[in-house]
Amino acid sequence: MTATTGDLAGFLREQAELGELRFLTCGSVDDGKSTLIGRLLHEAGQILDDQLATLEKDSVRHGTTGGDIDFALLVDGLEAEREQGITIDVAYRFFTTDRRRFMVADTPGHEQYTRNMATGAANADLAVLLVDARHGLMTQTRRHAFVVSLMGIRHVVLAVNKIDLVDFSEARFDEIRVAFEAMSRRLGFVSVQAIPISARFGDSITTHSPRLPWYDGPALLAYLEAVDISDSTQRPFRMPVQWVNRPDQSFRGYAGTIATGAIAPGERISVASSGVGATVKRIVTMDGDRLSARAGDAVTIVLEEEVDISRGDVVTTGVAVAVTDRFDANLVWLSEAPLYPSRGYLLKLGTSTVAASVTRILHRVDINSYERVMADTLRMNDVAHVTLSLGAMVAVEQYAANKDLGGFILIDRLTHSTVAVGMVSAVSDAAGGVVWQKQTVDKLARAGLKQQHPATVWFTGLSGAGKSTIANLVEQKLHAIGRHTYTLDGDNVRHGLNRDLGFAEADRIENIRRAAEAAKLMVEAGLIVLVSFISPYRGDRDAARALHGPGEFIEVFVDTPVDECRRRDPKGLYKRADAGLIANFTGVSAPYEAPENPEIRLYTTSAPAEVLAERVVAALRARGLFVG
Ligand code: ADX
Repeated sequence: MTATTGDLAGFLREQAELGELRFLTCGSVDDGKSTLIGRLLHEAGQILDDQLATLEKDSVRHGTTGGDIDFALLVDGLEAEREQGITIDVAYRFFTTDRRRFMVADTPGHEQYTRNMATGAANADLAVLLVDARHGLMTQTRRHAFVVSLMGIRHVVLAVNKIDLVDFSEARFDEIRVAFEAMSRRLGFVSVQAIPISARFGDSITTHSPRLPWYDGPALLAYLEAVDISDSTQRPFRMPVQWVNRPDQSFRGYAGTIATGAIAPGERISVASSGVGATVKRIVTMDGDRLSARAGDAVTIVLEEEVDISRGDVVTTGVAVAVTDRFDANLVWLSEAPLYPSRGYLLKLGTSTVAASVTRILHRVDINSYERVMADTLRMNDVAHVTLSLGAMVAVEQYAANKDLGGFILIDRLTHSTVAVGMVSAVSDAAGGVVWQKQTVDKLARAGLKQQHPATVWFTGLSGAGKSTIANLVEQKLHAIGRHTYTLDGDNVRHGLNRDLGFAEADRIENIRRAAEAAKLMVEAGLIVLVSFISPYRGDRDAARALHGPGEFIEVFVDTPVDECRRRDPKGLYKRADAGLIANFTGVSAPYEAPENPEIRLYTTSAPAEVLAERVVAALRARGLFVG
């Protein structure tokens, strides 16, 4: 550890400038990762005396170090404790030396999965890649280096551990260092520092080791204390608005945490969504007004002019932030359930959460060879370059320029679990240059003429449940009372618009996406649209709902037990499916996820179709879609 200089003011200034260092350790238990973390905690004086005494005892009993203190026992002990908490993928440990504060992200398990690494790397400024001097670079080193670079980490330490086991060989160290430099050339690291260490014996951890006389570089902890990870480039000011603070008529402020850059009263800002400019009047915080504020500060900005800014918008200076509903990104797939293009997810970026889908997988990257390969789906731990399409406009930037406005996660609509992390790579114009044409005659105008509120009435249920029969009767009844309608039926749409689609999961997802988009257009046209598709996946129905405005999507669950459908078997399909002649048949060899809270539920075994159809019409009337 470096000693303080005695010049307290200088020291404090230096410490403030250096800031906390957040780093990630990559390597397996066999590489000595736990030992290294334990050693760092010990050298920083973070291991309490009683812990040390226990460690000494345990090391003799269980350790693999033959009498020395086995620091791995400490870290692995913490790990076991943590694993009882189950859901956490990454453990963060904090320690402080007299030069700097550190946060180290430790990803558990000796098989380090991409997903764990990606989670840990999201918060880190630097990565310590550990290799065993005896084995040199392994496939997993390639993988770690790739994910680290993907996550925007620009500073790397290559810790060549167990140097004692190769007789402190300079030649071996150089060989590994040169191989790593060659391998990582394309990964865009700003700094790469190779350090020979022995985590077990403490060589090159805090001070120069006499056993490595040929090494004239810094010791690991000394390097981590001094490394400058601050970005020299001046970043423009960006603040995503978390909420609009408006306690009364006299005050209106925009609250958020500054993502990059700095701001002061008197400066001109612009609003990303509208491009409208304004002047900063005050910067308000809990501790009063400020003369300036910078990245990381939570502030409320008050403007001279009245402008329209809402939550999720971004206040900026300098180069404009793109506001778009389409961009390309690198994606790390985290979920056990595969990605299918066109399935609907939620995307969380900055302060916005919007509907999103992956419209194209441009290519997958083999993270062992760095080669690009074609893919039509992604599985857990896959990395790919994709195009995303969003349900609303959001302010985004390239991840390389701004992690806050360029990093995002994808969330499963049903389980609310994070299924992917993403890094924006390129921002295209909104909808790839396709501008949404503002139409003067709009939905309201069209529907007004028809004297009805347009909506999609979505019938879901098994094949043979009675969806089409009931939807057909509902349309007849609506028509008879002068309502303007249209019916989209799965069997019929599959003859035209969707004739390229089959019944595999990915095809069904696309089938429902197109049906939902078509229904939405018809709602725009002012119609009451009856949609009759099996639509077996809850998530896809929810995505269809999300395309519609509030009250515009009415889900009707045509609830018929599969045995009853099989008994009716109007098209003879169950007989054929049971005989194994039709693959992926819903209810037989493919799943059906029943709605949990449909607006309308029809039990077809308890009333005739005619009565059920009347019930639907009554329910639509009660919802105010039309009068009479
Ligand atoms: S969905 O699952 O993608 O929503 P959709 O409603 O379009 O299905 O089409 C279902 C109709 O296709 C069924 O009513 C049936 O006539 C026919 N069909 C053919 N093969 C299958 C299958 N494997 N599973 C379900 N329906 C099938």
